[in-house]
Amino acid sequence: MPALPLIIDSDTGSDDAVALLLAAASGLGDIRAVTTVAGNVPVGTGTRNALISLETAGRTDIPVHPGCARPMTRMLSSAQHVHGEDGMGDIGLPDPSASCESTHAVEVLLSQPRENPGELTLVTLAPLTNVAAALLRDPDLFTRYRHVYCMAGAADLRGNISATGEFNVWADPEAAKIVTQAATPDKVTWIGWDVSRKDAVMTPADQQHLENIGTPMATFAHRINRTVADWARDVTGLAGYDLPDPVAMAVALKPDLITEQEQAYVDISVADETRGQMIIDRRVSAPAPNLTLVRRVAEAGFKKLLFDTVGTLAPPAPAAAP
Ligand code: BDR
Ligand code: CA
Repeated sequence: MPALPLIIDSDTGSDDAVALLLAAASGLGDIRAVTTVAGNVPVGTGTRNALISLETAGRTDIPVHPGCARPMTRMLSSAQHVHGEDGMGDIGLPDPSASCESTHAVEVLLSQPRENPGELTLVTLAPLTNVAAALLRDPDLFTRYRHVYCMAGAADLRGNISATGEFNVWADPEAAKIVTQAATPDKVTWIGWDVSRKDAVMTPADQQHLENIGTPMATFAHRINRTVADWARDVTGLAGYDLPDPVAMAVALKPDLITEQEQAYVDISVADETRGQMIIDRRVSAPAPNLTLVRRVAEAGFKKLLFDTVGTLAPPAPAAAP
């Protein structure tokens, strides 16, 4: 099967980094560009992290385009308490050897699908600020992509940043609302934190396996997720740390991993108490569905893809400070 042409929008922190490895090194993805946005970390830090991650996969040739530095109407509330001050577990990663591009992310999100109509799959792993800004300029943007997959929301209303809010939607709910208003279920699929919580948790045995693989990519993936492992233990109570962005990327690369999905009409709350909560209307009288929501994936298939990919040999990862 030919590799899937991809644009990836990321606020690169430690789980985005693993998703980038999957897209860059599994043989299933053909990354045409990575666009970055403020979220887990400020946009400059996320851009640096994207470059480091791609270099770890041996891909210093993929262009990385910095985008919006803050949400549409709100101040940036980053997730550095989750992923570390540098978003990568604060293990002292050295600077990447490649530099980012000067063309703004929003320009890339607009121009690439115009130049390659119907060819590109967009995968978003971050607050939807860049995508919403692009939609304000081109309301038909989604029709120009082959498909759009978003790691966004929590369809079971169990949040990770608030009681009912998932971080990417909570961080910029106005942007997420613009995305839902422009979406159709044949073009736009959301993979929420509920999927990650159920089917993408790295148990202690999985973490040990990752560490034991011993390749540069596996060691990198293991080390950068140490901070998030502590946070998961203390806050989510899961049996390990979860991998929301990698499981969303896996769905884009291998849709046959999906075991349960639904179509529904979804709106996003911008009210203070329920900021970023998905409002899912499943009544018979609801408006026509605007999103496809993935609800479960094959956990074993996802983990096999992950372990197989990071187990392949790429050039040595940038050495971390002792
Ligand atoms: C999302 O928020 C970030 O912390 C992760 O990178 C992921 O994109 C999960 O809610
Ligand atoms: Ca992310």
